[in-house]
Amino acid sequence: MDELNVYALIGEEGFTRLIAAFYRQVPADEILGQMYPRDDLAGAEERLRDFLIGRFGGPQRYVERRGHPRLRARHMPFRVDRAARDRWMALMEHAFAEAALPAEAEVFLREFLSQMATFMINHE
Ligand code: HEM
Repeated sequence: MDELNVYALIGEEGFTRLIAAFYRQVPADEILGQMYPRDDLAGAEERLRDFLIGRFGGPQRYVERRGHPRLRARHMPFRVDRAARDRWMALMEHAFAEAALPAEAEVFLREFLSQMATFMINHE
């Protein structure tokens, strides 16, 4: 599957649904709830959504607003250990279940996000 097709397949609406479902779970989560900015959860939601939209063939809003992603560096202020990584993916799995995206898009995104989440680990 060509990467461009994820955006063609699910559009802004699909990414919005998925990432909104992810962030709805964040405040109550005992690991991630403390990490994300409570007063700017909507902003955090927008940053992740726009990053993924740009990464998968949609408008480049994230890069226009935030510059080069440098995601590993941007996660350094946060303690991302294996437990945080696994919890992040667990919340994303719930979001996938809720968003009910076309299966091929879900499989592709899951693989990408899982690898990226492992790459973000910066603490034992
Ligand atoms: C491994 C577990 C992860 C944890 C615990 C985590 C945690 C965080 C936190 C606390 C923030 C700050 C929220 C904000 O103000 O934007 C953030 C930002 C962000 N995260 Fe993650 N993250 C994880 C994995 C990922 C993955 C897998 C991706 C993408 C594939 C990602 C993409 C982003 C992006 C795009 C931002 C905004 C960066 C910026 O422009 O400042 N994160 N993350």
